[in-house]
Amino acid sequence: MKFFIDTANIDEIREASDMGVIDGVTTNPSLISKEDGKFEDIIRQICEIVDGPISAEVIATDAAGMIDEARKLSQIHKNVVVKIPCIREGLKATKALSSDGIGVNMTLVFSPSQALLAAKAGAMFASPFVGRLDDISHYGMELVQQIVSIYNNYSFETEVLVASIRNPLHLVDAAQMGADVATMPFKVIDQIVRHPLTDIGLKKFLADWEKVKARS
Ligand code: E4P
Repeated sequence: MKFFIDTANIDEIREASDMGVIDGVTTNPSLISKEDGKFEDIIRQICEIVDGPISAEVIATDAAGMIDEARKLSQIHKNVVVKIPCIREGLKATKALSSDGIGVNMTLVFSPSQALLAAKAGAMFASPFVGRLDDISHYGMELVQQIVSIYNNYSFETEVLVASIRNPLHLVDAAQMGADVATMPFKVIDQIVRHPLTDIGLKKFLADWEKVKARS
């Protein structure tokens, strides 16, 4: 299972990358808007820190415009994967870009049928947004289970990238379901590493070691 970090914040990306568990990064216009600097420069900087798929989203909503933006974004670095929304024009763009060897992360996926279309169009990743479904009283993880099962039925190569993760249980459920990738905000990465018994255990070991040191 691959772990991506869902942020455009360079300090968070550096810290998570230093932990050695980050395989890629996802950004979106809202995350980019929280940081200073030009979009292209932020993406370039991220690519220098993490050697894996780095998602950068297009703004155009027509296929020609999306393709144009995607081509420019893919020039920034070989690892850039273009994020395209799951709309009709997005499918057209995905088909054209994936045929040209440009990786697409089909974003804003909220139904199994949309995920099926993303795979048919040749997307590298399909991103179901679990937290946003939970927010409107739908079980987001149910969608992930459906997509994993559909993709397995037909051996689609598109990877299931669980997005809009809000807590550690989303990650554990995604792993149990066999999702290929989970993208998490830094806060969730920090939450999954922590366990009170680890902290208590470490404190006790260090206290006991003081007794050993006192002997010499
Ligand atoms: C990642 O690809 C998505 O853009 C992101 O996970 C959305 O998360 P949110 O629903 O918390 O904004």
